[in-house]
Amino acid sequence: MELVDIHNPDNEYYRSLKKFIEQNRETPGPLIQVLHKAQEIFGYLPVEVQYFIAREMDVSYSEVYGVVTFYNFFRTEPIGDHIINVCLGTACHVKGAQEIIKALQKELELKVGGTTKDRFFTLSTARCFGACGLAPVMLIDDEVYGRLNPQKAVQIIQQFKQENQEN
Ligand code: FES
Repeated sequence: MELVDIHNPDNEYYRSLKKFIEQNRETPGPLIQVLHKAQEIFGYLPVEVQYFIAREMDVSYSEVYGVVTFYNFFRTEPIGDHIINVCLGTACHVKGAQEIIKALQKELELKVGGTTKDRFFTLSTARCFGACGLAPVMLIDDEVYGRLNPQKAVQIIQQFKQENQEN
């Protein structure tokens, strides 16, 4: 997804968000809806956008921030082109999922939830993909990779990047 300019509150993205806020002022529980709309427009919810929403909706920033951090479907960082999801379900955990996460964090130079500087990968975790027989498991987008070890996981993401990087 293309990165949207979050620093210019007069641009088309903020205008479209403002319009949505105006239209939904009377709807019950509008904050969550507005945050969803904002995430749809901007791809994520940076502090600038959260402040804009607080101002426009006449609520405190801490209220907006509280909702954003409470629900895990809201993101405060831009998302990468490809999502790596490492399973942290019981079977995968027992078979060393944490070591895989450590290796990927080191390789990608980020923490879980983060996105690489080139915005190619976002590293995330999830609970059980229903592929426990292949534990430990990770997904890159919709593709399952199983029977991993830290080295193999790193090789897979390197190879994936090589194969999928646009020139
Ligand atoms: S616990 Fe990882 S796939 Fe089920």
